[in-house]
Amino acid sequence: MIDVDSIARAAKILRQGGVVAFPTETVYGLGADATDVNAVSRIFAIKGRPTSHPLIVHLGHTEQLDAWADDVPPAARRLAERGWPGPLSLVLRRSERVPLAVTGGLETVALRVPAHPVALALLREFGGGLAAPSANRFGSVSPTTARHVEEDLGDAVDYVVDGGPCDVGVESTIVDFTGAEPAILRPGGLTREAIELVLGQELRAPGVGPGEAGVRAPGQHPSHYAPRARVLLVAPSAVVEEAGRWRSQGHRVGTLALAVHQPPPSEGLVTLTVPEADEDYARTIYGLLREFDRRGCELVIAALPPERGLGLAIADRLRRAAAPRG
Ligand code: TXA
Ligand code: MG
Repeated sequence: MIDVDSIARAAKILRQGGVVAFPTETVYGLGADATDVNAVSRIFAIKGRPTSHPLIVHLGHTEQLDAWADDVPPAARRLAERGWPGPLSLVLRRSERVPLAVTGGLETVALRVPAHPVALALLREFGGGLAAPSANRFGSVSPTTARHVEEDLGDAVDYVVDGGPCDVGVESTIVDFTGAEPAILRPGGLTREAIELVLGQELRAPGVGPGEAGVRAPGQHPSHYAPRARVLLVAPSAVVEEAGRWRSQGHRVGTLALAVHQPPPSEGLVTLTVPEADEDYARTIYGLLREFDRRGCELVIAALPPERGLGLAIADRLRRAAAPRG
């Protein structure tokens, strides 16, 4: 699956200050040399993302941790050793090597070693760190195929490495080690339960909206990961009734729910059925949200999964997709 020519070409473009989209196990990233401030500024321009929103630096080896972070606490090191390569980002004190352009002016940096053969091959060929947010326009649905990247960003990117569809399908879990206690800033592909097991302690959970208690990460807006269609969250048992109500008002409606909670097929209704297993749901969630847009839905009625395991990340993304848009 690894095309050595495309890896060599991508690494060369990155060394020249270019911007390259590449697959990770979570979502596709939009990468640039993390030490090249000009290249990094192009990432923000291409995405239309505010420069105050920090980027994650991707590394090819766990051993590079201390080159990019200072004063790494033992618990963070233990988690890195267990969780990398994998869908886990650690927020630590930045080392001198990390430009403020990458961290949105913060003295901390998010680091991760992705578990994708193509991402690892590219990082190891490149040698340094790659600053890489998800390869989509700011606020919209993250890309899990090279096709999604091309649809969103087109010619703005110097090169897209195609590594097939992403395996995990939701972004990395972000754990902050710069506060008094470790805290999850964003639920993601590594479950809270798995992290708590390694750390031997319970973690504070993220808050979603402004009024809610909990942790807020810089750049984690309540409204994010959103398709064009409006998203309305309801109890699973209310999907049929709610869909009927909006249909009767003439709207083109989509429903996102388990098969048992779906309304029968009818004109003007797009029913996309959620897989039973959380792993399968996570892998397909962004593709499903894109599919509603492709099929012209104005409104998507969605049921939240139980918030444990990967369900926590899926529910977080659905809540943000449903949040009022600024
Ligand atoms: O799975 C992922 O993490 C993907 C792939 C490409 O690796 N990347 C990703 O990047 O989701 P992005 O830019 O879409 O989200 C990065 C988020 C920021 O929005 C911010 O909330 C958090 O990471 N972050 C980055 N640096 C931080 C820091 N120093 N302190 C707190 N949060 C930080
Ligand atoms: Mg993103």
